[in-house]
Amino acid sequence: MKNFIRAENISYTYKSTNGDRLALNGVSLSIAAGEFVAIIGTNGSGKSTLAKHFNGLLLPTEGKIFVDGLDTADEKNLQHVRENVGMVFQNPDSEIVAAIVEDDVAFGLENLGIAPEKIRERVDLALDDVNMSDYKNFAPSKLSGGQKQRIAIAGVIAMRTKVIVFDEPTAMLDPQGRREIISLVKRLHAQGLTIIYITHFMEEAAAAQRVIVMEKGKIIRDDTPREIFTDVKEMKRLGFDVPVAADLAYRLRRKGFKLPQKILTAEELAEALK
Ligand SMILES: Nc1ncnc2c1ncn2[C@@H]1O[C@H](COP(=O)(O)OP(=O)(O)O)[C@@H](O)[C@H]1O
Ligand SMILES: [Mg+2]
Repeated sequence: MKNFIRAENISYTYKSTNGDRLALNGVSLSIAAGEFVAIIGTNGSGKSTLAKHFNGLLLPTEGKIFVDGLDTADEKNLQHVRENVGMVFQNPDSEIVAAIVEDDVAFGLENLGIAPEKIRERVDLALDDVNMSDYKNFAPSKLSGGQKQRIAIAGVIAMRTKVIVFDEPTAMLDPQGRREIISLVKRLHAQGLTIIYITHFMEEAAAAQRVIVMEKGKIIRDDTPREIFTDVKEMKRLGFDVPVAADLAYRLRRKGFKLPQKILTAEELAEALK
């Protein structure tokens, strides 16, 4: 499949009076249209800095990044880049801009100068996509964290970008809110969207097709969830948890149970133990 995003050896340094901070240190990657990629890494490993390069919010200090074949460092490409790559951040409160749900979802479209009846149509479809149609006329402040985050996602869906980058969208949510978001993300991927999903929940990362592991501004692993999360000893050494079933399989094997090497899910573990 066609590479929609391609980073060539990008580095990024935050400059401040307290000194410079090298946040990305020679990152290269390609993401194809339609992929579902998770990015994990300890705090400060550069995940958010990388995410902001995907839609030109940050420009690399060194190297180049291309979105849909266009260099984000070229100002005339930025509009196309932003129309194709949407972002969802951690804190839904900081993303809500309007006093009524449907106005909030419409906000990005109004800025694109789309006709009002078209806007209403797109907003209705987007609210339906995130199962929030019943809340169209609500004040966002009355909603739960998970509902607010779904409103923020509806705003991006309404823009009809090809890619959505999620930067720890579930970090501030309760388990119920987290489940709502991850099932919505899976649905969006099934509809054909390209998903880049930053998380520190390993069960969420395991839902992706591919997991990128970052450490100190570099990509240190890039593989399937199965390969990454069944390498339990190495993941623990790097300071990560692994999904519960993978961890349990690892512990049982160490106690002498004869189990297949690459168990990732509870179903696989149950089947192996039968
Ligand atoms: N605005 C900023 N100014 C200076 N340093 C920053 C800024 N944002 C992030 N950093 C630093 O850059 C590094 C990477 O940060 P970030 O991309 O936010 O990591 P992550 O999202 O993986 O936690 C960290 O060392 C962080 O302290
Ligand atoms: Mg971050």
